[in-house]
Formats: sequence, structure tokens, C-alpha cells
Amino acid sequence: MSRSPIGIFDSGVGGTSIWREIHQLLPYESTIYLADSINAPYGPKGAEKIIELSIKSTELLLQKGCKLIVVACNTATTNAIDYLRKNYNVPFIGIEPAIKPAALNTKNKAVGILATYGTLTSALFSKTSGLFAKDIHVIEQVGDGIVELIEGGKLHSEEMKALLSEYLKPMMEANIDYLVLGCTHYPYLMPLLVDLLPIHVKIIDSGEAVARQTKAILERNGLLNIEMAKPKLQFFTNGNVEVVHSLLDNKYQVDSLKF
Ligand code: SIN
Repeated sequence: MSRSPIGIFDSGVGGTSIWREIHQLLPYESTIYLADSINAPYGPKGAEKIIELSIKSTELLLQKGCKLIVVACNTATTNAIDYLRKNYNVPFIGIEPAIKPAALNTKNKAVGILATYGTLTSALFSKTSGLFAKDIHVIEQVGDGIVELIEGGKLHSEEMKALLSEYLKPMMEANIDYLVLGCTHYPYLMPLLVDLLPIHVKIIDSGEAVARQTKAILERNGLLNIEMAKPKLQFFTNGNVEVVHSLLDNKYQVDSLKF
């Protein structure tokens, strides 16, 4: 079982930002990545639909023999992970916006969070925010349109720059010193965000913490692969193969799959 792959799914290509962190920390683990781009974005969909889509990806990964599943999508985590944990007998790792470290470290007592509507309105987000950020000014911004542009291969477009400038404006007016990226697509915006934000604003995402948590859960369940052999790294998408390929620096084979 420990040689079985780790399964990772997302509403599209964004979860490859999480895959990168996992592969860096656990270079001998085989992985299977599923990009459900045809249904992106999950953000505006209701909980019922998001659960249905998460079940579909989970079952496909289980058929392919995965030993653990990373729900590499904030929106799917906040809406579906409880259901998945109750109904399937493998460990699940989810992604939550890194609001806690931002709230603990902000000096200006002002933090920005960019996430999908589905994440910002979820019960899990309001619980975390209420717990750690009640004395902090949290500027929440729905990142409408960002996922669509990334999925459409328009990461570095003028349209994207214009959208980000609009979304960051109220945050800069509130003098934030932390920006939390609450969607796994958003780490790919990093170079644009660095250009647009004042230098003192720190940008944080959950990728590294998720990779550490994946390792810890594999260890705890006796599932960590201790063989130092070349892993099998598989990527599947029901959308545009080229978009996934280019986000992975054209280094890995990406296959088209109907699901
Ligand atoms: C989306 O599908 O709307 C974004 C994915 C995420 O929340 O990480």
C-alpha cells in the first residue's frame, strides 16, 4: 500500500501549485493529479454540486489505487471534505486559507483575503476567521473571473492585471500587511501580485503547510513510501492539456481523460 500513489484533485489546474509542494517534500511518492477543468470554477456552484463533483474525482482516484487523497481546492475542501471523510475509507487532506498565520503576524491589524465566493461564504471559513481574526480588519475579496482566466491560459494577460488591480485596491486602502491567497489557482499570480502590491505586504498561501500535513498523515497511517525509487507522476485533465502542461513548465506528460 505504501507504494500506491497519492491522489490529488482540483476544479482545474490550480491544484498543481499544491502538487509542486508535495512533490518537492516527498520526491519518491508517486502521484495522480486530476484537473476537473470542464467544471471550473467550483466557486460559484452550490455545496450539493461541489460534493457531487468531489465524489466523482474521489472515486476515480480510488479506482486508480490511491492511498490518500488531497483535495487541492479550497472550495471543494470547505464544502465537501466532511462528506468525503465520512464516506470513504482513505485519509483526506484539505486546503484552508492561511488566515491564522496572517492574523497572528499582522502588525497593521489589517489582512486581505482573496478567495472564491464558495470559500468565503463557507461555515469552515467563518469558523476559522472568527477564531483567529476577530480583532483584525479582514478585507474579504471574491476573486471573480481569476480562475476562468487561468483555466483559459490567460494568466499573464492585461485582463488579469486589470482584475487584480481592482481587487487589491480596497486592501491597499485599508493598509494590509498580509494577503492570504485562498484558492489553489492563485499562487500562479504571485509575480503579478508582487508587482502590484507595496513591498511590505507579505503574500501567503497554504501549499507548504499542506505538503507537511500530507507527509505527517502518511507517516501516521504507515503509508509513507520509504523506497527511494523513481516515482510515477501522472496528470489527467478533462480540459485543455496545454494549459496544465505549461503550468508544469512543460516538463511532464499530461493526458486527456473524460470524467
Ligand atoms: C474554483 O474552482 O472556483 C477555485 C478553486 C479553489 O477554491 O481553490
